[in-house]
This record gives sequence, structure tokens and C-alpha cells, in this order.
Amino acid sequence: MSGKILVTYASRTGSTIGVAEAVAQTLIDHKLEVDVLPMQDVASVAPYHAVVAGSAIQAGAWLPEAMQFLKTHQRQLNQKPFAAFLVCMTLALKNESMREQANVGNWLQPVRALVRPISEGLFAGILDISKVPSFSERMKFRVSVLSGVWSEGDHRDWDAIHTWADELSDLLQ
Ligand SMILES: Cc1cc2nc3c(=O)[nH]c(=O)nc-3n(C[C@H](O)[C@H](O)[C@H](O)COP(=O)(O)O)c2cc1C
Repeated sequence: MSGKILVTYASRTGSTIGVAEAVAQTLIDHKLEVDVLPMQDVASVAPYHAVVAGSAIQAGAWLPEAMQFLKTHQRQLNQKPFAAFLVCMTLALKNESMREQANVGNWLQPVRALVRPISEGLFAGILDISKVPSFSERMKFRVSVLSGVWSEGDHRDWDAIHTWADELSDLLQ
């Protein structure tokens, strides 16, 4: 395969950046050439052979700036291999049946409607209540933690992230 791969992300409190960097590093380990950029710094996807885009989830959806990135570059993205991932807290729910019921893969439906991914990664993120800007959201998260639904901390599963990126590198070769 020739040509660079763009790994791009939208994040509010930083955890998606770490996931994007881990995906990029795995692709580099497979001898692929990679740029890692926040979506707002991507002027054009034209120079890239393939694009891997990921966003944090808020209110059951990719961040608005991530959806805007897809809309802005939709035509070009549909002409190259495109993979999508999300980072959320639902995948860190302690209760397995609640995790399954949430069906977080559905949150990528608006993404699929714009650009069809060749692969999708669904990852748990970080819950750091001190970084949540809104008071009412902080209260909601505190109640969820106190009631045992969620636990604070870094729930990113690096093995799952590397495994997905390993499989993706095969698709991109
Ligand atoms: C205001 C707000 C809303 C959120 N909404 C959801 C949600 O609907 N579902 C979910 O699973 N996680 C939700 N989360 C958790 C984030 O997706 C998770 O903390 C993620 O790791 C954040 O990524 P970031 O650090 O890259 O911004 C929410 C977090 C915040 C701060």
C-alpha cells in the first residue's frame, strides 16, 4: 500500500487523544505512514490514502465537531478506505446486560449514513468528573458513581484498541 494514513480525533477531556495515538502507533508498527491530528486541524483529507476518525461520545452521539468533519469531507472520504471509532463510558458499565442493552454500535449509525466505515472500533474511555465542565452534568455523574453504575477512572482497554488497529492495518495494507 502506498500513501499516508490520517488518524484524526475529536475529544473534550483528552481520553480519545490517547486512543487515537495508540491506534496510530499500531499502524506505524505495521510499517504504515501515519499522521495524527485533531479534526479541527485537518484542512483536507486529499493527501491521504485512508482515514481513521474517532470521537468521544456525548449524549449518545459523536461530538458535533466530528459530525461536521464528516460532512465537510464527505465526498473525499467516500472515495477512500475509512474507519471509525468511538470512545464512551457505557462500555465501562459494571453491569454487562446494561452494557449490551445500550447497543453502543448504534451510535455510529449517523456516521454510517454519511461515510461507510470498513471497520468500527467501540472503546471504553475515562470518567474524570472533575473535568466535566457543567455543574449539572457533574452532579449526574456523581450520582451514577455513588449508585454503583459507573466508576471513576481510566477504563481504556489497550489490548482491545491494539487488536482493532492490528486488524485494521491488515485491511489497509
Ligand atoms: C457531558 C458528557 C456527556 C457524556 N455522555 C455520554 C453518553 O451519552 N454515553 C456514554 O457512554 N458516555 C458519555 N460520556 C462519557 C464520555 O464519552 C467519556 O468520558 C469519554 O472518555 C470522553 O472522551 P474525551 O476525554 O476524549 O472527551 C459523557 C461525558 C460527558 C462529559
